[in-house]
Amino acid sequence: MEKKRETFASRIGFILISAGCAIGLGNVWRFPYIVGQYGGAAFVLVYLMFLVVFGLPIMVMEFANGRASQKSVALSYEALEPKGSKWHLAKWFHIAGDYILMMYYTTIAGWLLYYFVKFLRGDFHPGMTAEASGAEFNNMLANPVLMVVFMLIVVALCFFICSRGLQAGVESISKKMMVCLMVLMVVIAINSCLLPGGKAGLEFYLKPDFSRMKEAGVFNALYAALGQSFFTLSIGIGAMSIFGSYIGKERRLAGESINIMVLDTFVAFTAGLIIFPACFAYNGGETGQGPSLIFVTLPNVFNNMPFGRVWGALFFIFMSFAALTTVIAVFQNIIAFATDLTGCSVKKAVWLNGLAIGVLSLPAVLGYNVLSGIQPLGAGSTILDFEDFIVSNNILPIGSLIFLFFCTRKWGWGWENFAKEANQGKGLRFPTGKLAKFYVCYGIPLIILIILVMGYVEKFL
Ligand code: PHE
Repeated sequence: MEKKRETFASRIGFILISAGCAIGLGNVWRFPYIVGQYGGAAFVLVYLMFLVVFGLPIMVMEFANGRASQKSVALSYEALEPKGSKWHLAKWFHIAGDYILMMYYTTIAGWLLYYFVKFLRGDFHPGMTAEASGAEFNNMLANPVLMVVFMLIVVALCFFICSRGLQAGVESISKKMMVCLMVLMVVIAINSCLLPGGKAGLEFYLKPDFSRMKEAGVFNALYAALGQSFFTLSIGIGAMSIFGSYIGKERRLAGESINIMVLDTFVAFTAGLIIFPACFAYNGGETGQGPSLIFVTLPNVFNNMPFGRVWGALFFIFMSFAALTTVIAVFQNIIAFATDLTGCSVKKAVWLNGLAIGVLSLPAVLGYNVLSGIQPLGAGSTILDFEDFIVSNNILPIGSLIFLFFCTRKWGWGWENFAKEANQGKGLRFPTGKLAKFYVCYGIPLIILIILVMGYVEKFL
């Protein structure tokens, strides 16, 4: 007899795990540096709009897909597609997305853990020059063994948590980490906003100035906002849809998705409240440094702050929590793919995938040292940048479009079935009027396609 499928213990568990999947490096690492690069508040506005007009409907579709099929994306198309159609082939695209995402995510999660350890050990201290704290980052990147060790700690820890099962492992641990994360963030943000000189940072972050966005290129900014909104909501690779398969039909999916989106936005927004005032108070407003913002600028900021070592350690442990809950959520998917597709035991799925992800994560790590000659996106780029580009700017938007077409077209699962599933239970309804249907069926794909094409043109031509 087939073993009964495990479900979440509680609604709050579902919301926090899904939020845990959504809240990650996208919020605490990527969001602040992209905001810095594209000019601050104006970009934030565009990003917020994209979250609501594109991200939300697609998140509802993913959940509907999972809840109706009661399966991970490895089998959900099979369960819902019209007989004889080929939709199920899309699963390979989504599954590839989950693996490629983990191939670099584990590396950055490892950096965060390592920085937590460094602050605990007191490697960063008052009186250190900006160059010296910057050099710490480069020293880490130049040290493959160190990075491999921390990447492997992340992989092993998260697979271990998943191996304890959905309720006892994933739900119980992620829930605790998420609560700690949010409390810590608020404390650090209050401290940061009260810094003398921090006001200019708040202004940069909160007062829109579209001319700064123009400087960075409007389409570039739109393209970045699109990638970021899909990335932060974890949509397009089925990572969320699996959590729909672990819940009952008591609640409508639009209301649940809004809860998750609000939590996700709260964390990203608060990360900005921590970082920008600090950058202006202690770093002359230097925010446009890209990915190294939190690893180079911030340690320097903490060095200059009273009790900087404590704030630094707290900051990096909360960042690590954010990243770890995402890794756990995606590993849960990866394990379910293996058990769904091959019928193997969870234990076997954990071991094999643990090994596979450990090995697959090596190129991203080695791209900073041994393989630094490989610069796939042009001079100065790394393997990690390339993997991120593949996922964030290609697989996530295109995977989201696949979900959208599946849920809205007669030759797929279809609008009627989708709307019925999404609107079962109590809570906010997914709008199903003529206008809403037209927008979802034609408006969203058209705008996404235009931004994707323009993004390519600006990037490569
Ligand atoms: N949303 C996650 C983050 O912000 C990243 C992610 C993307 C996770 C896609 C799963 C799927 O870090």
